[in-house]
Amino acid sequence: AEQTLILVKPDGVARGLTGEILRRIEAKGYAVTGLRMLSADRELLAAHYAEHAGKPFYEPLIDFMSSGPTVAIRAEGDRVIEGFRSLAGTTDPTAAAPGTIRGDLGRDWGLKVQQNLVHGSDSPESAARELALWFA
Ligand code: GTP
Ligand code: MG
Repeated sequence: AEQTLILVKPDGVARGLTGEILRRIEAKGYAVTGLRMLSADRELLAAHYAEHAGKPFYEPLIDFMSSGPTVAIRAEGDRVIEGFRSLAGTTDPTAAAPGTIRGDLGRDWGLKVQQNLVHGSDSPESAARELALWFA
């Protein structure tokens, strides 16, 4: 079956939402086949977010993502990449639809980077690359 990398970002872990996010993944019917808590170092984050290097939110993003522990999840199921991004909602948590993780649980906090609780791979190529980084 297809696999994806999901991250509960430091804001989600700090707010105690890891269980709620895992619950939604499992309730949708996806299998959790890998689970790991770690404090990501800047080398890992630079590799993970290479596509965003140079953007105005890049440095605040790396600072935020290195501010505390992250929970990395490998989830499996048919069309799980698309399905989890649908569960997560759009990137901007204020605009994300109610019913989604970001829409129900996230909001703006007046910070330089959007703290939006979760990450999900956006293609099979990204999933393979990101799973190799976070589950090395
Ligand atoms: P991920 O699942 O985390 O990859 O989110 P995404 O695919 O919805 O967003 P994207 O990959 O484009 O951006 C990665 C992360 O950078 C986002 O999740 C936000 O935390 C942050 N980010 C992206 N775009 C913006 C932006 O325009 N402004 C700000 N302040 N932060 C942004
Ligand atoms: Mg992305």
